[in-house]
Amino acid sequence: MAFKDMRDFLRMLEEKGQLKQVDIPLNVERGNNELQSLMRHLAEIDGPGLILRNLIGYNTPDIPVIFNPFGTRERTALTLGESDPLEAKKKHAAVLSDESSWHKPVLVDRADAVCKQNVIAKEDISLDKQLPTMWFGKEGASYICGGVVVSEDPETGERNVGWYRLTQFFNADHPTGGSYSEERQKKQLSIFAFWNPPMSHIGLHLAKARALGKPLKIAVAVMCDPAIHLAACTAIPAGHDEYAFAGGLRGAPVELVKAETSDLEVPACAEWVIECTIPPDADDETIGWHSNSVGYYDKVQTFPAIDVDCITHRDKPYWYGTMEMMPPFDHNYIGLMPVEGEVLADLQAKIPEVKDVVVTPNMTYIVQLTVDGARKPHPYFGKFILNAVWGAQGRWGRVAKIVIVVGPDVDPYDLNSVEWAIQTRVQPYSDIIINQSAQAMILDPSAPKGPHGFAVKSEQMGIDALIKVPERFDDYAEVSQADPEKVKQIAEKMQAILG
Ligand SMILES: Cc1cc2nc3c(=O)[nH]c(=O)nc-3n(C[C@H](O)[C@H](O)[C@H](O)COP(=O)(O)O)c2cc1C
Repeated sequence: MAFKDMRDFLRMLEEKGQLKQVDIPLNVERGNNELQSLMRHLAEIDGPGLILRNLIGYNTPDIPVIFNPFGTRERTALTLGESDPLEAKKKHAAVLSDESSWHKPVLVDRADAVCKQNVIAKEDISLDKQLPTMWFGKEGASYICGGVVVSEDPETGERNVGWYRLTQFFNADHPTGGSYSEERQKKQLSIFAFWNPPMSHIGLHLAKARALGKPLKIAVAVMCDPAIHLAACTAIPAGHDEYAFAGGLRGAPVELVKAETSDLEVPACAEWVIECTIPPDADDETIGWHSNSVGYYDKVQTFPAIDVDCITHRDKPYWYGTMEMMPPFDHNYIGLMPVEGEVLADLQAKIPEVKDVVVTPNMTYIVQLTVDGARKPHPYFGKFILNAVWGAQGRWGRVAKIVIVVGPDVDPYDLNSVEWAIQTRVQPYSDIIINQSAQAMILDPSAPKGPHGFAVKSEQMGIDALIKVPERFDDYAEVSQADPEKVKQIAEKMQAILG
């Protein structure tokens, strides 16, 4: 099934009772906002998506804000039309590993592209009035978090579409006591373009453009069909088209339209398209604080200041507000499904006994197998699986800091069940592998940093929580646990008293 646009997805959520309209006033001012607390509360109650319509301290009161749309594994699965997270993940992995299932995007006429309903030319850009700003926690700036960013490799012309964050200078606090000029606040943005592990492709394009002394054109398409977002946060190898992958995920081609100020092609269904140039001599501007996905504030970061060339948007557009913080948070799950899909696709291609790969919001990788004990293909199979994760194709397996392999009777979504397996099936010295020389997950504050300020080397731990038959025992104690079917039956029988 294919959603036409983000609105179509939101309509479906609302019909399922998974999206609520909110008129209660909520403060979004810098230093005095309620949005981080709201995000935390929603995470604690597995709360619904929200449309925030009454924000205090908000510069664009007519623009409603989409909040927490992807806040559960179930809602993230719905982006692919699946209600079961494992089915959604399997679909993601299957499409990822079979390029013949992808659909090339198609170009539509400008007149048919809703993202062109309103056009703001360069001379009329005043970002303070045109782009929504809102603050989360102790962040110094308001960040654009809902945009898929299109760019082209300056050498090969190959396209990349990645979900990256941008910084707004308007009304931002400067982290080292400086200030942002009025011109910068109204006409410029900054983009999180890392060219370090995990090696984003926008970082590669920017590094090449700078080396060649060329400007880099980018277009930021905010709030599109969710399959496009899912594709944009999947680490597709350079030279393979995320739009075509998105077409495979949605089962129909993505409709694109030419940007106004470059040859880049953007999703016609986007709520907003912000077209920009990164000049070859762009100022590297200092920004911060920014709350990151491993749950800490980055106090000072440096990214290029970029010029906004044009903004187009739909009539009555929606914006998206989200933040990263100590997990879980709203877009955790949509960010994790591509990681799970990447590792699952690789492992299943070579190890049929792999049933599921679950990456927790804190990025522990749990691999569930269909076999355990004497049914394993060979003794020490668990250790083979741990090494296979670290050696998996793609960007993520190699930076998996903690990997746990479990059998079919352990629920990989339930950390209590995983802990039980570790307590009852693991001898720490014999069943844990420590690798001292791995690639670091870039944001891990416990990993040593290199000269450029990013984490370079990490230690890794793999826990083999399979039953050690036949390698240590001939036989194993029988598990004492109620049959889930019988639990269901007794729940029905006792409903009058227990509810
Ligand atoms: C809401 C959201 C924001 C993200 N922001 C960034 C970012 O600012 N920088 C980055 O490198 N990755 C970010 N990511 C992760 C990337 O989208 C992901 O690594 C993706 O594979 C990058 O595309 P690429 O492989 O083409 O570089 C974000 C993901 C999500 C869901």
